[in-house]
Amino acid sequence: MQSSEVRKTFLDFFVQKGHKEVVSSGLVPINDPTLMFSNSGMNQFKDVFLGTEKVDFDKATSSQKCVRAGGKHNDLDNVGFTLRHHTFFEMLGNFSFGDYFKEQAIELAWELLTEKFKLDKDKLWVTVHVDDKESEDIWLNKIKFPAERLSRLNEDNFWSMGDTGPCGPCSEIFYDHGENLPGDAPQEGLDTGDRFVEIYNLVFMQYNRDHNGKLSNLPKQCVDTGMGLERITAVMQNTSDNYETDIFKEIIN
Ligand code: ALA
Repeated sequence: MQSSEVRKTFLDFFVQKGHKEVVSSGLVPINDPTLMFSNSGMNQFKDVFLGTEKVDFDKATSSQKCVRAGGKHNDLDNVGFTLRHHTFFEMLGNFSFGDYFKEQAIELAWELLTEKFKLDKDKLWVTVHVDDKESEDIWLNKIKFPAERLSRLNEDNFWSMGDTGPCGPCSEIFYDHGENLPGDAPQEGLDTGDRFVEIYNLVFMQYNRDHNGKLSNLPKQCVDTGMGLERITAVMQNTSDNYETDIFKEIIN
């Protein structure tokens, strides 16, 4: 599957599920002095999560242009050393603004990965926040995900856009590219090797962090997700190397 088809499959899936397709915002965020560059799909919806901006839809999907070369989410030290990090990349995302929360976010992610993209379930690993018993229960008892491939992490499973702003616990889905590659199964503080690659992050946006680090509840419970287009394309093209996909190969050749 070509990368353009991967992108379309993701966006069409969520449009069919009632999401509004929204175009990527620019790389330089407007009206947000806390960020130099867009670092994820949720940036353009920050004020919607905070409840200070109203939009006429409660679910959205996008493919957002991102740069992670500085700030809180800085991949620059990994670029050139791994097969999966980039400075510029596209993040596919689905968002709920007070509509669905954990259960449907997890069910939608599972349906997309296993029925649309038809990934081998045995190659998927999942992490949840150590205090998030609800997500753990959904994975183990509703999805029937095997307990031996689910791990409970702490800070690695709490996602914040920056030092301040919307944040919450998250559940990440990893793809195992196989034992001939080095790498550790998902665990706290370790993101080594290219074997286990995080392909999809489901953030359960619940809090706003202020300048003193204090968390307060958002007006509504929301969902913010991110799937690296280059990473899922690599999986769909049977390679563990993002630079071997159609996104880069022709340029490199
Ligand atoms: N905003 C979340 C991330 O970037 C989905 O991982």
